Amino acid sequence: MPNAQPAIPDFLYGTAWKEDRTAALTELAIRSGFRAIDTANQRKHYFEAAVGEGVGAAYRAGLVTRADLFLQTKFTYQDGQDHRLPYDPAATLSVQVAQSMASSLEHLGTDHVDSFVLHGPASHSHWTTDDFETWQAMIKERDAGRTRLLGVSNISLAQLQQMTRAHAESPAFVQNRCYAVRGWDREVRAFCRERNIIYQGFSLLTANRQVLGHPTIAALAAEINATPAQLIFAFARQVGMLPLTGTADSEHMKQDLESRSLELPPDVVDAIEAIAG
Ligand SMILES: NC(=O)c1ccc[n+]([C@@H]2O[C@H](COP(=O)([O-])OP(=O)(O)OC[C@H]3O[C@@H](n4cnc5c(N)ncnc54)[C@H](OP(=O)(O)O)[C@@H]3O)[C@@H](O)[C@H]2O)c1
Repeated sequence: MPNAQPAIPDFLYGTAWKEDRTAALTELAIRSGFRAIDTANQRKHYFEAAVGEGVGAAYRAGLVTRADLFLQTKFTYQDGQDHRLPYDPAATLSVQVAQSMASSLEHLGTDHVDSFVLHGPASHSHWTTDDFETWQAMIKERDAGRTRLLGVSNISLAQLQQMTRAHAESPAFVQNRCYAVRGWDREVRAFCRERNIIYQGFSLLTANRQVLGHPTIAALAAEINATPAQLIFAFARQVGMLPLTGTADSEHMKQDLESRSLELPPDVVDAIEAIAG
């Protein structure tokens, strides 16, 4: 039921860049134990209709029901899209948001998603009047029961500060690329923590390849009989992040989920947090 409080997941399976493998990998992720799926109504990088097919296959196989899943999608401005738009580009932003949501619900075969995320602010420098209109339209979608929660992605600390000053309502989620050289997005994470916003971190492995190959990381991982990737996901969770993985490998799916049972001592968490910046 859209009005029930959704459980917040502990891992998100990301579906970007999977093209023809999207449906099969989404089903495999669910079969492997993922219960939260991240997508976007942005055909350029995601194949949302195929995510819906994968989810549908998981239902038919009796693996899960809709109530077991956390489905997250995004509204993407025209600047971030190719010609395959999920809305009329001549319509107002408010109408585009509603059209994008209607299309997402159709793709995903559901009457509501669990989280609806603004893919990124309209400008790199500030929170614009377009963002203001879009966020208000997203709130309307939430109030109409078509999403339970709202989020914003690819956002700087300054934009987040402007956003939270401009609107009565803060996002439930911030989803950012998490660079170790920026203290794993330390400033944005601190802002989120103060306001009970859940920070979703993506590219934890791909944006931090040097850290993954760092001898300290290798040694710490070996000490707990884990892989460097598992160590990073465990670290992410222990500093309060909700991590994403988009692995296409069934063994890595298992390993990523198994990282949930790793407990790192505080000094190890501190060492990883400070490893690059
Ligand atoms: N909001 C945004 O703008 C935005 C942008 C980018 C991504 N995202 C979301 O975040 C999701 C994840 O994207 P991502 O950028 O984090 O990267 P990704 O595309 O998921 O890539 C993860 C990489 O790490 C590897 N990997 C995963 N688990 C591993 C393990 N246990 N051991 C070794 N290697 C492992 C994968 O290789 P294998 O496939 O071989 O395992 C893959 O090369 C996307 O699908 C999307 O949903 C959002």
